[in-house]
Amino acid sequence: MNGSRGGLDSAQHPVQTRRMTTKRVLLIVSGGIAAYKSLELVRLLRKDGIAVRAVMTESAKEFVTPLSLGVLTEDHVYGNMFDLKEEREIGHIQLSREADLIVVSPATANIIAKMAGGIADDLATTILLATDKPVLAVPAMNVRMWEHVATRRNIAQLERDGIHIMDPDSGPMACGEYGEGRLPEPPAIAEKTKQLLANPNPADILAGQPDFAADMPLAGKHVLVTAGPTHEPIDPVRYIANRSSGKQGFAIAAAAAKAGARVTLVAGPVNLDTPPGVTRVDVLTAREMLAAVQGTLPADAAIMVAAVADWRAASEAGQKIKKDGSGAPAPLPLAENPDILATIAKSEKRPPLLIGFAAETENVVDHARAKLTRKGCDMIVANDVSGDVMGGSHNCVHLVTEAHTESWENLPKDEVANRLVERITARLE
Ligand code: CTP
Repeated sequence: MNGSRGGLDSAQHPVQTRRMTTKRVLLIVSGGIAAYKSLELVRLLRKDGIAVRAVMTESAKEFVTPLSLGVLTEDHVYGNMFDLKEEREIGHIQLSREADLIVVSPATANIIAKMAGGIADDLATTILLATDKPVLAVPAMNVRMWEHVATRRNIAQLERDGIHIMDPDSGPMACGEYGEGRLPEPPAIAEKTKQLLANPNPADILAGQPDFAADMPLAGKHVLVTAGPTHEPIDPVRYIANRSSGKQGFAIAAAAAKAGARVTLVAGPVNLDTPPGVTRVDVLTAREMLAAVQGTLPADAAIMVAAVADWRAASEAGQKIKKDGSGAPAPLPLAENPDILATIAKSEKRPPLLIGFAAETENVVDHARAKLTRKGCDMIVANDVSGDVMGGSHNCVHLVTEAHTESWENLPKDEVANRLVERITARLE
């Protein structure tokens, strides 16, 4: 193998000669079972004329040998931060400087956590901390590790830092479990790599050094969001519900997390993925939602977006209720549910900023202003739900405070969320 020759070449003929001819990828291989797929990735990239230089973490060497990677890259494989020979020939800064793109594949939960925390305790992580080049991370790990709140938080952080992340595949895993967390197949990683090499976006690089305060105005704040409907059981097969999809509440939770807040999302039964970086508590009924909200406080801001069922069956039948065929009205006495927003507004743990939503079908602003007073909150976001707002992708809202009413045009729910988070940031300042 001509391993050491590659290292020497790069020291003697730095950046310019290589750059003018070919695109260069610095591939960082971390230690997971999927490390073997890096061999195929190197082969595919090189077939397309892309030069690949590899760096391995210590644990990666347990899964694939430097020799195999060196043969395929036709280059020295780097791994030891403290190997003076390597440092003299090509320092870690130089390794990054010579690359057009850094690809971390597989990216284990461990290296993702180190990247998110800015830890540099080996050659791979030192390069990642020192680089000003675009970085693509391709996560691969056990499904539970992928879904763990710590990994969700770390991925959200990397996204905020401008790191490109490929979603893992779903399927059977080496550990015998099934789910999301498998390394995407090498052709898909190669394709994504080529896309990034073809469209170098200077903003990506700048995004790697964010103006922290400007990008994360809610850092250090705890934001509570409720979302979705509640289901109130009548008997083992029936329940009272409404048409809320949870989309607006989830969008607000996502926007607050992107702004750097620690977000707790108390969600009724919905069919939505948890936004990155958000801690989710699932509930079914209004009374469960109240308990979850109380258990989550204190918070700096609470946004109560949930369409809580106003009533529940006064008593839940243990068996399916049978009709008697008489045509008489159903024997279904209802009891009023607790008003979560009003309860929190009166409690000792009332967040400094408390925002309610109001779903109205007529006299939208007037009803919203009455609710603001009745429920004791600081702002009501009122929406006209007479159309297809519930379940739809857009929302037309009015912001009602004690002093003002402001109406926004019909906007995608994500945009409503972003704008609302800007308002929340301003109020918390
Ligand atoms: N809300 C709540 N608990 C309830 C009902 C509503 O916390 N039991 C909250 C909602 O999350 C929302 C606000 O109160 O933030 C207004 O909800 P809405 O359904 O519009 O109003 P209602 O209180 O149900 O009043 P009405 O039935 O008169 O419209």
